[in-house]
Amino acid sequence: EADLESKLPLKGKKILITAGPTYEAIDPVRFIGNHSSGKMGFDIANSAANLGASVTLVSGPTHCKVSNPLINLIEVVSAEEMFNACHDVYDDVDVMIAAAAVADYRPKYVAEQKIKKAADSFVIELEKTKDILASLGSQKKNQFLIGFALETENEIENAKLKIQKKNLDLIVLNSLQDEGAGFGKETNKVTFIDKSFRIEAMELKSKQAVADDILKKVIAHFGIK
Ligand code: CTP
Ligand code: CA
Repeated sequence: EADLESKLPLKGKKILITAGPTYEAIDPVRFIGNHSSGKMGFDIANSAANLGASVTLVSGPTHCKVSNPLINLIEVVSAEEMFNACHDVYDDVDVMIAAAAVADYRPKYVAEQKIKKAADSFVIELEKTKDILASLGSQKKNQFLIGFALETENEIENAKLKIQKKNLDLIVLNSLQDEGAGFGKETNKVTFIDKSFRIEAMELKSKQAVADDILKKVIAHFGIK
């Protein structure tokens, strides 16, 4: 029996995960989005559920599928919807992992009708979206909070600033520098930085393997052997 238990090291733990892009409406038929596939967040969610965790996955539009029927999948479209869905469950979770590529800006005004082609140039005014992770960080109680960072310069310094700004316990820095890492790829090269600024550079590996590494950090946090 002890053997069976050890295969579900996250049994009883509640984990909130965000995944995918967000789409920010311009008019009824157009939006601003990004190329996030959602795979990283879905891989983490599926593995966490397989390890026994009770998972709420809040995802923007993706083609990914959950493979564990016990995952509570909440499908959202915009950053605002993702913000609200996360706050609804946050108080009750033990771990939050923010793998979504949330839009930083959205159109300030959404046209009610499809915008017609007219002038030769066209400007869309944007306003900042809410920072979901920073907001959750500011109201953190006992949650173990993990964020991602994508940087193209001063990677480590910028990632450390994000740890502080968002009150994170751990950040997963995605390196774009190496061949084969990043959006739309099957592999990632990540560096873990914890809140004490301990740095651990990982090998280039599949997103599934990165997901497993992240969950090892979660298991270690709870001191589960
Ligand atoms: N994030 C979020 N809500 C936002 C923007 C980002 O929850 N509105 C989360 C992402 O899911 C990720 C982390 O914050 O876990 C860092 O995202 P990133 O885009 O790297 O950082 P930003 O804070 O948006 O700063 P910048 O894009 O300027 O580097
Ligand atoms: Ca951003």
